[in-house]
Amino acid sequence: APTAADLLARFVRDVPDFPSAGVMFKDIAPLLADGPAFGAVVGDLADRYRGTVDAVVGIEARGFMLAAPVAVTLGVGFVPVRKAGKLPGPVWAAEYALEYGTAEIEVQQDAFGAGRRVLVLDDVLATGGTAEATCELVERAGAEVVELAVLLELAFLSGRDKLPGRPVHALLTV
Ligand code: PRP
Ligand code: MG
Repeated sequence: APTAADLLARFVRDVPDFPSAGVMFKDIAPLLADGPAFGAVVGDLADRYRGTVDAVVGIEARGFMLAAPVAVTLGVGFVPVRKAGKLPGPVWAAEYALEYGTAEIEVQQDAFGAGRRVLVLDDVLATGGTAEATCELVERAGAEVVELAVLLELAFLSGRDKLPGRPVHALLTV
């Protein structure tokens, strides 16, 4: 059977110059559209964390598409980290750097029970800003980040350098 890395190499599409010139966009739509491939990747992630996490956090928007099925497969809850202004309060907020300017994401303050062990899931680790801000929010809400997992790590952007001391798992590094 193909590994998760094989499936990502086959079903994630490179789109040049999207959303802006010079950017190579990693499009997970072909993976999501293939039932067996999507199921195998979700199953691979669930197998890694079965019995070790109490909740799965998804980062809006593409992280939602992965974290929700992994949470359901594991039989644990799903918690959304959303772009600012979408969640009713009280929330914790964190800023992170974009190519131009900053963005803000939020989590509800009562999203986790005390000491909850959390998996943070997203599609791509690029500069690491989104992931680091999310891990900070999870901890501010009183939970522990067991690991940050992504489908794809773009090694040339050195996102891991923004996550010192944090366990990071990438199914495929490019
Ligand atoms: C993309 C991607 C990751 C993030 C990675 O999300 O889905 O979440 O960027 O970038 P970074 O490591 O440099 O922070 P984006 O904010 O473009 O939006 P989306 O998930 O809502 O499509
Ligand atoms: Mg995203």
